[in-house]
Amino acid sequence: MNEMNVPRPNNLDAYWMPFSDNRYFKSNPRLLARAEGMFYHTADGQEILDGTAGLWCCNAGHGRREIKEAIQQQAAILDYAPTFQLGHPIAFEAAARIAELTPEGMDRIFFTNSGSESADTALKIALAYHRARGESSRVRLIGRERGYHGVGFGGMSVGGIGGNRKQFGALLPYVDHLPHTHGIEANLFARGLPEHGAERADALEALVALHGAETIAAVMVEPVAGSTGVLVPPRGYLERLRAICDKHGILLIFDEVITGFGRIGTNFGAERLGVTPDIMTMAKGLTNAAVPMGAVAVKNAVYDAVVDNAPAGIELFHGYTYSGHPLAAAAAIATMELHRAEDLPGRARAIEPLWQEATHSLKGLPNVVDIRDFGLIAGIELAPRPGKPGQRGTEVFRRCFDKGVLVRVTGDIIALSPPLIIEKPHVDRLYGTLADAIRAEAA
Ligand SMILES: Cc1ncc(COP(=O)(O)O)c(C=O)c1O
Repeated sequence: MNEMNVPRPNNLDAYWMPFSDNRYFKSNPRLLARAEGMFYHTADGQEILDGTAGLWCCNAGHGRREIKEAIQQQAAILDYAPTFQLGHPIAFEAAARIAELTPEGMDRIFFTNSGSESADTALKIALAYHRARGESSRVRLIGRERGYHGVGFGGMSVGGIGGNRKQFGALLPYVDHLPHTHGIEANLFARGLPEHGAERADALEALVALHGAETIAAVMVEPVAGSTGVLVPPRGYLERLRAICDKHGILLIFDEVITGFGRIGTNFGAERLGVTPDIMTMAKGLTNAAVPMGAVAVKNAVYDAVVDNAPAGIELFHGYTYSGHPLAAAAAIATMELHRAEDLPGRARAIEPLWQEATHSLKGLPNVVDIRDFGLIAGIELAPRPGKPGQRGTEVFRRCFDKGVLVRVTGDIIALSPPLIIEKPHVDRLYGTLADAIRAEAA
């Protein structure tokens, strides 16, 4: 133990780190040892301002006492109980609490353990729904270029990130993709929802014409795409997607893994964006990331179709050993209580104008080629170094970290998504440090 009473590992070999440059990390380790409020602390005692809420997940800030105590108490009462043909009370309570936040008529909740599992669960429910209604030809799943829906085979296939797919062969059959909504010149440096590009939703009509509506089960998109560098939907785009889905009997799935639980100023993105999907995935902010948990909310009619049309017995042959795990359910209930009591969506909305101003103040710095924001999300796109894509972004990340600020980088795009409890001094420090790092990497 060191002076901060945290373990200091001296062997980094055994752990194969996810989505990481293992070789670089293990020769230049950055170990986060503890966290509280807006800050991480490294094993060496350095304070790091969290500009990313971990991985878009610690919306209520770190180390919240209420969540910790709920987990501790639950561990003492019931460590684990199966939810296959059995139940335990707090899984039901957690589902009911989530249903209070989801759009009206979307009150049926299926538990998973991650965003990836939520994505695959949502896709499976969509397929089961059509089959239950006698439309078993609807097997085609439509995603979008640059979409991220985790790393299961379903989410990876429907997702649109080449780099995440290329090592893994053929993936799921019967998958197609809409074009992404990015790269429209007139939208550069837009504040909030960009004005141009709603017509890109019409590509769904083209896929319907190509494959036949009777083959298409669902379309899955993130309301605001985060992982591929903050792609904010053009005004009217999601409405158009909804209308085309309705016209052709296609289910619309929103992946709300990052937009859920206050990130864009409302409980879910659906609310702020004014479009209600049929199925919605969530994870991350659900438990403030204190215990892994994901969930899928479905319209009651979707649940009814699957459950009421099934022969007696199990209605959906899907689930996880840890679906509705007691510790995760306890963390979720405590988190949603904080969400309500502290009005986290309201806090995000209140600071959004200042956040937006600070974000766009980076315009004019060297190599800043675009800036996007919505809610408490920001994307700052840098021009790549010739022949070295991603290098400038990585250097900016490292400089910020060394100066005590955590930002996230996707290629040469800096993505920011702070805890929703962020205040002005944090915003100032975050953007001050980032601006210095961008200037320092001008060459
Ligand atoms: C929109 C979206 N969907 C799914 C996932 C995958 O979640 P997880 O890493 O919990 O599997 C993420 C993770 O960043 C995400 O942003």
